[in-house]
Amino acid sequence: MYEQDKRVLAEAAIKHVKNGMILGLGTGSTTRSFIDVLGKWVEAGGQVQGVATSAETAEQAKRLNIPLLSLEEATHIDLVIDGIDQIDTQFRVLKGGGGALFREKVAALMSREVLYLADASKFVHHLSGPLPVEIDAFARPYVERFLQDKHVDVTLREQDGEPFVTNGGHLILDVDLKRVQDVPHFARELKSLTGVLETGYFERQPDHVLTVEQGQVRQLAHPDLRDGGGLV
Ligand code: A5P
Repeated sequence: MYEQDKRVLAEAAIKHVKNGMILGLGTGSTTRSFIDVLGKWVEAGGQVQGVATSAETAEQAKRLNIPLLSLEEATHIDLVIDGIDQIDTQFRVLKGGGGALFREKVAALMSREVLYLADASKFVHHLSGPLPVEIDAFARPYVERFLQDKHVDVTLREQDGEPFVTNGGHLILDVDLKRVQDVPHFARELKSLTGVLETGYFERQPDHVLTVEQGQVRQLAHPDLRDGGGLV
């Protein structure tokens, strides 16, 4: 997504933020743009408390003087604002490209409202993945064998030539979904394996999605997408 599109989405998303809210702050480049805008809003006198879904997001929020609560301190979240990797015609979402899927999912599940920001490239007819699967390192051979038996391709996520390690100290397997017909069922099967902490299939669907095409922002809710609106 172009930086300009992210900025346009961030400016549209800030209109959803109200004084006194507890805000779930996602992770990734789109959310980073939003947090920059939120920092200016706070500097101008806006009052919110944020719940960060990753160390990276917490660091940015602190730098911009956005007050933070830990997930343990937050009794609830009013609104989550986050990016996504893919969304299909039924508003089913894949996330976790940035590796923060577990905390992002907890925040989404705790939140009264979920708003995702997505440019047109994130809209798909079929969730093709990769589906990030966060696992304990000890379970890796076992989970990989399960996936091989299903004939799906899997890659251990790496960063700078080393296995990528999440904020929770786990590994991520990126699973190709091209041969998977029923993604929700497959995600549930994976989740039932010992050693799988979470998958990037988000059962909690967004209430709204903001998207941008040629500089114009559109707000989509469930029925829009069920009718096929917003697809590229
Ligand atoms: C982080 O773990 C992810 O869920 C991100 O929210 C997602 O990958 C979108 O990232 P971008 O905004 O960088 O595309």
